[in-house]
Amino acid sequence: MAPLLAPSLLAADFANLQAETERLAGSAADWLHCDIMDGRFVPNISFGIPVLEAIKRHAQQPLDVHLMIEDPQNYLEAFRNAGAEVITVHYEACPHLHRVIQQIKKLGCRAGVALNPHTPAWVLQDIAAELDLVCVMSVNPGFGGQSFIPHTLQKVAELKELLTDCGSEALIEVDGGVNQQNAVPLVEAGADVLVAGSFVFNSPDPVATLADLRAQLTA
Ligand code: DX5
Ligand code: ZN
Repeated sequence: MAPLLAPSLLAADFANLQAETERLAGSAADWLHCDIMDGRFVPNISFGIPVLEAIKRHAQQPLDVHLMIEDPQNYLEAFRNAGAEVITVHYEACPHLHRVIQQIKKLGCRAGVALNPHTPAWVLQDIAAELDLVCVMSVNPGFGGQSFIPHTLQKVAELKELLTDCGSEALIEVDGGVNQQNAVPLVEAGADVLVAGSFVFNSPDPVATLADLRAQLTA
C-alpha cells in the first residue's frame, strides 16, 4: 500500500482554517490530522470540538483526530459527532485502554493508540489485534516544529514486527518532525501514514510540498 500523507492542521493558519482546509482538497493529502491538546496531558492547548466541527464542514479528506488529552473516554462521542473518522488516544492517558478502544470502534470510528517516545512498542502486544492504527510519536507531543527523534526508525521496525506477529492489520503512523529527509527511511522501516505539520505549512506552497513528498515516496 502506498503510504498515506496526513498534513497536521496544527501548523496551518488558525484564522483561515476554511481556506487552509479547502486548499488541501484535491492535493496529495489523504487524511487531515487534527491535534487536540488539553493543557493537562500535554503542556499546550490547541483547539477542541467546535473547531473540529468547523474544519469538517470544509474538509474533503477524512479527519484523523489525535487526542492528546486526559480522560479521552469522556469525549469520544463528541469527537465522532464533530466529524472524526480516526480517533487516536494516548497509551499513557488510558489505564483502561482496551475499553476505550472498544468504545471508539462502537462509535463507528477507526481506533488508534499513540505512543510517547519513551513508551516501547511491546506494551501493545495484548491489544495489537484490536487496533486500526498505532501512532508512533517521533517528538514529545504538545508542540509542532520539533526535531525528529532518530530512534523512531528502530521503533517503527520493532512495531512492524510485533504487529505482524500478532496478526494485526493496524496501520503505523509516525507523527512529529517528519520531512523529506526522513520520509523514505520511515516508510522503509514500516510506516504507513506520515503526519507532517510545519514541513508542509511552513513551506511556500503546502500543496506543492505534499505533491513532492508523494512523488518522493512513489519514486
Ligand atoms: C505534536 C503533534 C503533531 C504536530 C506535528 O504534538 O501531535 O501532530 O502537529 O508537527 P510537526 O510536523 O511540525 O512536528
Ligand atoms: Zn499529532
